[in-house]
Amino acid sequence: MHVPTLIAHKRDGGELSAAELRQLIDGYTRGEVPDYQMAAFAMAVFFRGMTAAETAALTQAMMAGGECFSHRAGHPPVVDKHSTGGIGDKVSLVLAPLLACAGCWVPMVSGRGLGITGGTLDKLEAIPGLRVRIGLDEAAAQLERLGVVMLGQTERLCPADKKLYALRDVTGTVPSIPLITASIMSKKLAESLDRLVLDVKYGSGAFMRTQQEAEVLAASLVAVGREMRVEVRAMLHPMSEPTGRTVGNALEVVEALECLEGGGPADLRDLVLDLAGALVGGARAALASLLDDGSARRKFDAMVAAQGGNPADLARLGAIHQAPIIREVAAPRGGVVATVDAGGIGQAALQLGAGRARASDGVDFAVGFDRLVKCGERVHHGQALCRIHARTAVDFDMAEAMVATAIGVE
Ligand code: URA
Repeated sequence: MHVPTLIAHKRDGGELSAAELRQLIDGYTRGEVPDYQMAAFAMAVFFRGMTAAETAALTQAMMAGGECFSHRAGHPPVVDKHSTGGIGDKVSLVLAPLLACAGCWVPMVSGRGLGITGGTLDKLEAIPGLRVRIGLDEAAAQLERLGVVMLGQTERLCPADKKLYALRDVTGTVPSIPLITASIMSKKLAESLDRLVLDVKYGSGAFMRTQQEAEVLAASLVAVGREMRVEVRAMLHPMSEPTGRTVGNALEVVEALECLEGGGPADLRDLVLDLAGALVGGARAALASLLDDGSARRKFDAMVAAQGGNPADLARLGAIHQAPIIREVAAPRGGVVATVDAGGIGQAALQLGAGRARASDGVDFAVGFDRLVKCGERVHHGQALCRIHARTAVDFDMAEAMVATAIGVE
């Protein structure tokens, strides 16, 4: 394989064979293909796209380069959901334990923040001590015991996605339908699922800006899933305003805990119940009762403990990760909230430090937004539109200016 030729072929709009893609991915995983060549390849794919056959071959190559779950005979239904990425999207933190309470197995392999969107792994790591680097044997044992494990890609599980995901995040190559499809589906297929629901987002806070683009992405994800014999269903959801009232790693965990206890914002709870219903069927009220009676919260606590965290820390997460500056932004006038632009809020959260500028960067767990108003709410002049949690006064000023543009009151 001559990598520059292969990159040039894709750059010029050519089609790559399954064998070429397999060699490229294997070479990248082994460290023989350097990041700069893979970044150029990703950019070529971004501009030129891929055929359905190429996308399926890329997904297969990324999955096959690592280990896969192998569930014992007679296992309960193995299910999962994956979101294509959004702002304030803490659904996984609630949904995974809820599905386990409903009798499923949920071996959820997630990612970190990508572009302006947050990542489940970064949110989970806001819980002190909680490990998301978990080997397959340990994950399988936890699945057997609790029905839920939440983990990240490793050098052995989806190793190609682990590297490529981080590379795309910092090279402007995230919003590409074939790359998103291969990234998501290689992780999900490695889980050896029976059923998968895909939460495909569109709007200013998503990689797909329009519903039409989201439909194309959904079709690509479903096609690859079907080819690999997984029951896949895609649901489209707008991401024009953030999910819930918080954006930022620890702040989102706190809100997810509220939802796990039967409270929290209505849009978050509705989304969780919609996605859970799509996977397990049955009465919505039965699923809701698993939130309301504390079962899902107890399951989450058990998972936290199993993965090295201390459930007692959850109640004081806000104090553990307290930003030095926490201040309200006042409404410039009274009226009805017309926009809470997810893209603008996500961009501001990124600049505050909740996401990454370089692959090697850490995230700041404490910063972000809470008490965000929702579209359609009435506010009076001077009322708080949100609170900004910032590391420095300069950061606060920058975020405040961005909020002034993102939140419109009419
Ligand atoms: N989620 C993923 O896992 N990968 C992507 O590329 C986008 C969202």
